[in-house]
Amino acid sequence: MFRTNNCGELRFTNVGKNITLAGWVQRTRKMGGMTFVDIRDRYGITQLVFNQDVNAGLFEMANTLGREYVIQVTGEVAERSNKNANMETGDIEILVSEMNILNESKTPPFTIEDNTDGGDDIRMKYRYLDLRRTSVRQNLELRHRMAFETRRYLDQLNFMEVETPVLIGSTPEGARDFVVPSRMNPGEFYALPQSPQLFKQLLMVSGFDRYFQIVKCFRDEDLRADRQPEFTQIDCEMSFVDQEDVLQIFEGMTKHLFKFVKNISFEDTFPRMTWHDAMKYYGSDKPDIRFEMKLVELKEEVSGHNFVVFDSVPYVGGICATGCSIYTRKQLDELTDFVKRPQIGAKGMVYIRCEADGTYKSSVDKFYSSDDLKVIAAKFNAQPGDLILMLSGDKRKTQKALCELRLEMGARMGLRDKDVFAPLWVIDFPLFEYDEELQRYFAMHHPFTSPKLEDVPLLDTNPGEVRANAYDMVVNGVELGGGSIRIHNSELQNRMFKLLGFTEEKAQAQFGFLMSAFQYGAPPHGGLAFGLDRFVSLFAGLDSIRDCIAFPKNNSGRDVMIDAPSVIDQTQLDELNLVIDIKEKKA
Ligand code: AMO
Repeated sequence: MFRTNNCGELRFTNVGKNITLAGWVQRTRKMGGMTFVDIRDRYGITQLVFNQDVNAGLFEMANTLGREYVIQVTGEVAERSNKNANMETGDIEILVSEMNILNESKTPPFTIEDNTDGGDDIRMKYRYLDLRRTSVRQNLELRHRMAFETRRYLDQLNFMEVETPVLIGSTPEGARDFVVPSRMNPGEFYALPQSPQLFKQLLMVSGFDRYFQIVKCFRDEDLRADRQPEFTQIDCEMSFVDQEDVLQIFEGMTKHLFKFVKNISFEDTFPRMTWHDAMKYYGSDKPDIRFEMKLVELKEEVSGHNFVVFDSVPYVGGICATGCSIYTRKQLDELTDFVKRPQIGAKGMVYIRCEADGTYKSSVDKFYSSDDLKVIAAKFNAQPGDLILMLSGDKRKTQKALCELRLEMGARMGLRDKDVFAPLWVIDFPLFEYDEELQRYFAMHHPFTSPKLEDVPLLDTNPGEVRANAYDMVVNGVELGGGSIRIHNSELQNRMFKLLGFTEEKAQAQFGFLMSAFQYGAPPHGGLAFGLDRFVSLFAGLDSIRDCIAFPKNNSGRDVMIDAPSVIDQTQLDELNLVIDIKEKKA
């Protein structure tokens, strides 16, 4: 046998046993006539002892071991005199009687420890070494557990996992496509799926009434901490359901994962918030409801005091931070700089300190009397000791900026505890979103999303007011998943295409196969998709989804380890009938 045990499982009860381990050298410590070596594998670390007096040859060999050498050792499990309570195997050590050096290793470019000295770039370049680190490995273990529990839950409920193709045409999720040239069809390209949306709807037409797939999706969009160009969805679809059925099943799945992976039970049903309320009270369609500090609208109360900043704009709103009136000038300046960052875009910030003695101090004392400030404070139900922060401008932009300010204050006040989970459904999304620049409507979710039947009459008169049967699952301010009930009626679908500016030919060219399938008895259906990477990151308390992906891309979409993307050679280009003519080479 290559090994009798792994490096994480031997305990005091095994003392006296003869065992064989195999693994990597984590660390060597020389102390006079004794050398201690920590051997590591996926399961843990065990201490090995080499004693010069017992076996001088082996002792010398141990002294030649470098970090990350691969070794096989045989020896007896012994009680440790110097026990290490921080190590699972800390009660024992192995008195080595035989050792095989299976492979040597160059000195790794960074230390393979939890607190590594390796920066991001170097760790990504040597990701296979980074993956040896316990914290990174544990993220992948968690990911495996979650994928496994997802399959277990869905399988019990008759969901069937069906694979769908990766070389396809454009899908309707709204990002840019990654494309692949076709050698056999010169000048033609496949697009990689942004999601299996169209295929899962076709599977419903085929009668697979409960489908799921843990599947790679590809989107060429600007990257952020919660976005990768290739990511994984838990993609699901069901037939003969309404919105309520979908919410129940997938709230069940979320609870199942919390219970069996995190050991957290949610007894109550998840709260539901309309999109409208989410925007009004949190300035975001993915509200973090771990804490209150809701947005308050104040346009009426603050208008007509000759303060142009407030008078000249359509929206004024604010938040009230409990107990923060003690914020110093410097802290307030920092917050002002924060909201003025280009990505947040506020022009400035107004504050009102509700002093402990019941008076008010504000940055707009010139325009508002003490009584005026009292009226504003009452809108927030502010108490002595609280701090009111206000922003103004265009409604949506200001709500979004207030959302960022609220999250920043939440973080500063310690209200965003990573071990507290606050899930909710955001429902009743608008069907369309209007693009001012392009002067046209876009589908907020995708063009197959069904409007609420009672809102259908508004399609012609006031499309912006039409609500969709669409929903998102949000936890701690992260959009974990989203979906909708689909249109299964061709007449309604054609109206949607028209409103979205598709000509009949364009709709036919892009989605003709789906439209045609819908003429052969499409059942009512709906579904959703969760982002597995985001789900795992949430459970692991990670700041970036990269850390739960085995081989992620960096923020420029590069895999620095395999150095992709890269140029291809002329023969390959010739085979593909492609000529490269780059308009502008990136610096
Ligand atoms: P949507 O586009 O909302 O819906 O995507 C579903 C979920 O996928 C995750 N996600 C991402 N995760 C990491 N990186 C990305 N670039 C990325 N983009 C999306 C999010 C998101 O909630 N076909 C529909 C679903 C449906 O209607 O059934 C869809 O893809 O967690």
